[in-house]
Amino acid sequence: MTRPYYIAGNWKMHKTRSEAAELARTLTVKLKDGKHKYLVAPSFTSLETVGAIVKGTNILLGAQNMAAEEQGAHTGEVSVLQLKDLGVQVVILGHSERRHTYKEDDELVNKKVKLALRHGLDVILCIGELLSEREAGLAEKVCETQTRKGLEGVPVSDLARVTLAYEPVWAIGTGKTATPEDADAIHAYVRGVIERLYGASAAEKMIIQYGGSVKAENAAQLMAKENIDGALVGGASLKADTFVPIAMFG
Ligand code: 13P
Repeated sequence: MTRPYYIAGNWKMHKTRSEAAELARTLTVKLKDGKHKYLVAPSFTSLETVGAIVKGTNILLGAQNMAAEEQGAHTGEVSVLQLKDLGVQVVILGHSERRHTYKEDDELVNKKVKLALRHGLDVILCIGELLSEREAGLAEKVCETQTRKGLEGVPVSDLARVTLAYEPVWAIGTGKTATPEDADAIHAYVRGVIERLYGASAAEKMIIQYGGSVKAENAAQLMAKENIDGALVGGASLKADTFVPIAMFG
């Protein structure tokens, strides 16, 4: 089967509202005739502004994280209800910066995944190994564990609302990209994990994005691989000039 390509821009902790609005406006124009699936994930502070701009276009509105609890005494956190109130459609969970800088573990990520799905949000669940883990031959094992634990308790009926993003930690923001072959090997492995958990048909349909120093120069080669179904783009998503060629590839 042919899976749609899904290209997402994770703006991380960049841009004021006016800067975010400017980029969002340009993207709505330049991606208007794009044939892939698109998402932008601005900071919480720009969600409302960007949401108003992308509403009704072919660009989905994503958040970069959310709390594991619905509401309550959680200073500094943002809840699923608040995201939905702003029109957020998708939430990125388990990003490596959340896992490694902010110490989120698989259990917490899983709680967030289930909460988001329960409230009707789509999820991009990020997985990926550290350089030390790759060097120790543990890349597959780490990705398998993060996938299994991240999806624990998620029924097959919700799986169509989950996208996986393989982001090897050593490739994020470093300019080092996994070779298309190495990335595809992990994607194929993870698809096999999904098959064992949910069956062949669910595995076949699962969109698995690659992330980690994706740029216009390497995007097409990566996405030409059988198991690479899109990209989760950080640095290159911050400017229309660098994001549009990735989003319009092919
Ligand atoms: P870079 O594209 O800057 O390497 O970031 C990738 C990423 O973390 C996207 O979520």
